[in-house]
Amino acid sequence: MCGIVGYIGGKPAFPILLKGLKRLEYRGYDSAGVALLESTNLEVLKKKGKVSELEKLTETKTYSSTIGIGHTRWATHGEPSDKNAHPHYSSDQKLAIIHNGIIENYGALKTELSEKGYEFRSDTDTEVFITFIEDIKKTLDLTLEDAVRIALTKVVGAYAIVIMSTEEPDKLIAARKGSPMVIGLGKNEYYIASDASPIVEYTNEVIYMEDEQIAIITRNDLTIVDTKDVPQKAEIHKLDLKLESIEKGGYEHFMLKEIFEQPRSIADCMRGRLNATEGLLTLGGIRNYSEALTNAEKIVIVACGTSWHAGLVAEYIFEDLCRIPVEVEYASEFRYRNPVIREGDILIAISQSGETADTLAAIELAKSKGAIIFGVVNTVGSSISRITHEGAYLHAGPEIGVASTKAFTAQLTILAMIALRIASKKGTISESKYRELLVDLENIPAKVETALKSDDKVKEISSLFKDARNFLYLGRGYNFPVALEGALKLKEISYIHAEGYPAAEMKHGPIALIDENMPVVFIATRDSSYDKIVSNIQEVKSRKGKVIAIVTEGDVLIPKMADHTIEVPATHEALMPLVSVIPLQLLSYHIAVMRGANVDQPRNLAKSVTVE
Ligand code: F6R
Repeated sequence: MCGIVGYIGGKPAFPILLKGLKRLEYRGYDSAGVALLESTNLEVLKKKGKVSELEKLTETKTYSSTIGIGHTRWATHGEPSDKNAHPHYSSDQKLAIIHNGIIENYGALKTELSEKGYEFRSDTDTEVFITFIEDIKKTLDLTLEDAVRIALTKVVGAYAIVIMSTEEPDKLIAARKGSPMVIGLGKNEYYIASDASPIVEYTNEVIYMEDEQIAIITRNDLTIVDTKDVPQKAEIHKLDLKLESIEKGGYEHFMLKEIFEQPRSIADCMRGRLNATEGLLTLGGIRNYSEALTNAEKIVIVACGTSWHAGLVAEYIFEDLCRIPVEVEYASEFRYRNPVIREGDILIAISQSGETADTLAAIELAKSKGAIIFGVVNTVGSSISRITHEGAYLHAGPEIGVASTKAFTAQLTILAMIALRIASKKGTISESKYRELLVDLENIPAKVETALKSDDKVKEISSLFKDARNFLYLGRGYNFPVALEGALKLKEISYIHAEGYPAAEMKHGPIALIDENMPVVFIATRDSSYDKIVSNIQEVKSRKGKVIAIVTEGDVLIPKMADHTIEVPATHEALMPLVSVIPLQLLSYHIAVMRGANVDQPRNLAKSVTVE
């Protein structure tokens, strides 16, 4: 949450920062701001709202500074406002800071600093942080980097920060703990950002900063130390990110682009790993602990949000195909409830961003108890990918729309591949079933392509229900987590209240909600619970509910009962969530657009949840 960007080099910094902020806006859009060094003065420009508001504020001006920092905010301490927007500066206005994260002991620090006579202009923890650095610098007469280093040993919390100073005008100081930070290496220039998207068009050489590292960056030099001032080795990585993948490519929204990208992203996820003709399944990232995974007595899955829904589907697949008991946990609950984890237990962490604070903390907890951790992560080089023992990347490409779509289907693909590999090794499925499932999996991209052809029909249905105040989503078996995911998608981007339920649970409460105004989306594809869900549809129809049913191509029974049906191609039930979720993604997208909502940047949300 919050995007940070910094530049030092020979080019005008402002356009680089502004473009970088637009790329990072998915991380938060409560306010945006930049700080530049114009001659010897700090020029801080900031505005509540989106980056476009900041752009309007600055459109008639030119800036010559070749050093600067920028920030797009997801509010934690203090409401979204001009005064709480970053960058913040010190009381003497000589230091400016941008910060992603939370300083937990800011209250005590603020009291201490207030007693010394400092005054604060904002409600933020970040202003306290920079004032604290200012105080240390002045009291101990230190350089900027030493003052920052000492301050970092005294603050509690998470941060990715970049600081600049009028007194040391050719230097940026950057540091991280618990929040992501990447440094791009150019020729006599450096770029700093929360992720590689603002950097990729300038350089493909990057360093991923580690926790508690501090970078001292001048135009010609980069030095990294830890908080004890011990020099750190930095590994230079080559970015494997294409500029097109972070642009809309002609689509109206990133979310729509990402929905339609799924045939390709699922194929990319399987590329080089799955060969159905040869019966081969190779997951290069799962090697050393492969035996432990295959022989696991239990698997715990931790994740949040949509990734947690992917975990629920995995529970069905692992138990069904591998006969291994699975527990799927919200990372935020797991980390605080003293879970029973023993040496050698297996934990799978699922995360698109690889930066989700609760998932990271859950991993750290399990790791401290001796668990073996596997990551199913999209963002290469992210914190989760680096702290897990082994894992598999999704290779779905950057997901920029805040609502997760292509990451979900790629997560399901990886988890299905892991399950199939275990099942084949353990012999819990026959060779012929294994082969059959490999073929089915390989055919999924084509089936998703077909499912996407329902777009016009889904749009038509969306126009009929766009003003609904509530929705119910019901599914059974493998399609139950899909119902949860469909409801989440609708809630988060259209702001319509929606609930997902196992269809059979309806009669234990939610059925009371059903009347002629209640749209009920059934995910009712042909599988082992088909007959049961047909009865559930009838129960809703006899109470005058409006039924929208996702059915398998060629179904003749449900279309006679439902008000609207959307067909998807048939596949094995364990893989059906990959296909049945597609119309639900489209439904939420079209309803949100018709309601005038900003689908790529829904209110109060941010893409990467780096606070707990
Ligand atoms: C919903 C959504 C969120 C994320 C959740 C976990 O569309 O995107 O619910 O799934 O915040 O994020 P990751 O997967 O990055 O750990």
